[in-house]
Amino acid sequence: MKIEVKELSAWYGSHQVLRSVSMGVRENMITAIIGPSGCGKTTLLRCLNRMHELVDGARVEGEVLLDGENIYDPSVDPVEVRRRIGMVFQKPNPFPHMSIFDNVAIGLKLAGVRDKRKLREVVEDCLKKAALWDEVKDKLDQPGGRLSGGQQQRLCIARALATSPEVLLFDEPTSALDPISAMRIENLMLSLKREYTIVIVTHNIQQAARVSDYTAFLYRGVLVEYGETAVMFKTPRHKLTEEYLTGRFG
Ligand SMILES: Nc1ncnc2c1ncn2[C@@H]1O[C@H](COP(=O)(O)OP(=O)(O)OP(=O)(O)O)[C@@H](O)[C@H]1O
Ligand SMILES: [Mg+2]
Repeated sequence: MKIEVKELSAWYGSHQVLRSVSMGVRENMITAIIGPSGCGKTTLLRCLNRMHELVDGARVEGEVLLDGENIYDPSVDPVEVRRRIGMVFQKPNPFPHMSIFDNVAIGLKLAGVRDKRKLREVVEDCLKKAALWDEVKDKLDQPGGRLSGGQQQRLCIARALATSPEVLLFDEPTSALDPISAMRIENLMLSLKREYTIVIVTHNIQQAARVSDYTAFLYRGVLVEYGETAVMFKTPRHKLTEEYLTGRFG
């Protein structure tokens, strides 16, 4: 397992939103987290790279092991955890006035990399991996905010790749995009899993079926069912899972 979640509970103040969730995330696979609105999907995702604790009054109990090491251990630097486990959000959020080049290079620049050749190399490599290079290679100095929504999302993926993460977390990465752009992101995720471990939160059950190897179904903060996507979608073990997958509630 690349990540092992062990009896993880999470709160916002006194409001408990995750209840003793345990699950594994396999290396070089895509794991989908599905479930109705408000069930705790985003919270679970943000617990995987210690972003949850950035919210005032938020806390967690339990463990998240990354390569066997608990990321909540006091000796672990949360900044390094977030470098190893990158995140892409629902709404594309490039720095709109910053150049396309700098949008990708920013993480490295902040980490102190000055070598121009190195920066160019990484930017080109990440834009290629994010399937955006051909569309932007002649306008790297233009602002990121001038790209289309789908291009901006791929730019954010390139930005996430630039600091050499091992795991990528996607929170509904296509829900703000048109169907063609969404399809491109799905294909991109499928190509990225050769090199990265991916966790995706999605409202779109068909999308989970298309891209994921494993699926976790969350309901009111409880992990109801977790298993191979193909198996779960065909023969769900729990009645709630079946009802959710067949669209009886959302
Ligand atoms: N910053 C916050 N402060 C307080 N409560 C929050 C905060 N973010 C989320 N919550 C609450 O935690 C619960 C789970 O929210 P979460 O965003 O994890 O759900 P979700 O499954 O991602 O929902 P959606 O599908 O609508 O994105 C909800 O009851 C929500 O109101
Ligand atoms: Mg959410």
